[in-house]
Amino acid sequence: MKISTLAFGLAAVILTGSVSVALAQDAAQPRQGDPAALVAQQGDADGAFVMPGRFSEPDGEKMYRRVCAACHMPDAAGATGAGKYPALANNPNLAASGYPMLVTLKGLNGMPPVGEMMTDQQVANVVNYVRTHFGNHYEDAITAEDVKAMR
Ligand code: HEC
Repeated sequence: MKISTLAFGLAAVILTGSVSVALAQDAAQPRQGDPAALVAQQGDADGAFVMPGRFSEPDGEKMYRRVCAACHMPDAAGATGAGKYPALANNPNLAASGYPMLVTLKGLNGMPPVGEMMTDQQVANVVNYVRTHFGNHYEDAITAEDVKAMR
């Protein structure tokens, strides 16, 4: 193997790792301050109590843009570079609602369990959003209760 290939491979591993580490740190380090003040500051449209160190995005679209788009791209077409990020657009794997719910909650190989930093309602919102956008037309929405049962 050429040295340059090896160096590229290493850089890819480091880059992929750093995305997960950044996300993990976001979870591990609670934001400072009074949680009530945080809610007042950031708003909490789904009515759930926002814990420090959690995402506060109020709906599925905003959550998608903030969290999922970083890897799956804003148009959900996926990407290949430092890692392989599958397209969520026109993806028949989203037909069974339990699958994207499980992946969001538990992670999958290179995908961290981002749902751990979300309320049940936020997970439901973002899963329902990707299953009804980007060329996906799966209208059987999941609920916060479904998410709670799968955690
Ligand atoms: C840090 C990068 C990263 C983030 C953030 C991320 N994903 Fe992923 N996701 C991946 C990778 C990598 C895979 C492929 C895992 C595998 O198959 O080994 C994946 C796979 C998936 C799959 C399975 C696709 C299939 O066809 O099997 C779904 C569904 C999914 N992600 C949904 C989401 C949702 C929804 C969000 C936001 C809440 C999200 N992902 C955020 C990296 C990410």
